[in-house]
Amino acid sequence: MKNIAVIGAGTMGNGIAHTFAQFGYKTHLIDISEKSLEKGMQTISKNLDRMVAKEKISEEDKNNTLNNITTFTSIPEGAKNVDLVVEAATENVDLKLSIFKELDDICSEDTVLASNTSSISITKIASVVSNPQRVIGMHFMNPVPVMKLVEIIRGYNTSDEITKSIMSLSEKLNKVPVEVNDYPGFVANRILMPMINESIETLYNGVAGVQEIDTVMKLGMAHPMGPLQLADFIGLDVCLSILEVMYNGFKNPKYAPSPLLVNMVQAGKFGVKSGEGFYDYSESRKAEKVSKQFI
Ligand SMILES: NC(=O)c1ccc[n+]([C@@H]2O[C@H](COP(=O)([O-])OP(=O)(O)OC[C@H]3O[C@@H](n4cnc5c(N)ncnc54)[C@H](O)[C@@H]3O)[C@@H](O)[C@H]2O)c1
Repeated sequence: MKNIAVIGAGTMGNGIAHTFAQFGYKTHLIDISEKSLEKGMQTISKNLDRMVAKEKISEEDKNNTLNNITTFTSIPEGAKNVDLVVEAATENVDLKLSIFKELDDICSEDTVLASNTSSISITKIASVVSNPQRVIGMHFMNPVPVMKLVEIIRGYNTSDEITKSIMSLSEKLNKVPVEVNDYPGFVANRILMPMINESIETLYNGVAGVQEIDTVMKLGMAHPMGPLQLADFIGLDVCLSILEVMYNGFKNPKYAPSPLLVNMVQAGKFGVKSGEGFYDYSESRKAEKVSKQFI
């Protein structure tokens, strides 16, 4: 596989494009929003600068990485003639189904179709594609250039051959792929989201404040980041939709999203990407300080 298309230039899409491009893949970054593409490219450039400053890569590596990325606002233009599409658009089932239907029409039969979805069933996504064997979950972690794990999700029909090739491609990106089956939340979010939701409930019930809850988990459990801060980085809208998928998928009240989380999302407080969540990121210096913990 040499040519990759990444759909969505948001938090995850720009990180996925950065990673493929850094490892020499010709990468098409596609978003319906010109503004998201601009912001995504700025983020990639800033993260590469940080890597150069830390001497993890050279200035030449940075330039090569940027030169490997071409941006598009149209899926038909950006996704034709590629070997792999990694969809990282907004977590919304109808949107993902329509994107995969479109990909089924545009891409050649050999193109592998992957989704970075946090929780939507890969089997369901694959159901709108004529050959569901070539559909797979490639669940990168945030921030993508830094985090080692890729959760590889086999849908009901995903072939052994495609699974093997995506596992091996992930290793070429210097990642550690782990194969899991397709059930709500897969493994990562099935365990992580109840913890985040319980932290929000703890805040909602007035047991402790934001800093106190995060400090308990950081210093007491050796987590590198508190659960409320982590939720801000993931995006509170993303956390809510993952919990809703698990709640509906298992029909189990233990996954019911906290009313505080629902309220914050309805109020437009999405975390880092909107400038405010459990913490305030409105001054760029503050957000910078927090994000430097990663790289
Ligand atoms: N945020 C995380 O930490 C995280 C971690 C793992 C996986 N994910 C998953 O990654 C995916 C993307 O999440 P995100 O946090 O990057 O979201 P985001 O909101 O930051 O970005 C989504 C991007 O998709 C674009 N988009 C929407 N419709 C589109 C279309 N039809 N065609 C092209 N682009 C379109 C939007 O303009 C936006 O730029 C979701 O499926 C999410 O569940 C997120």
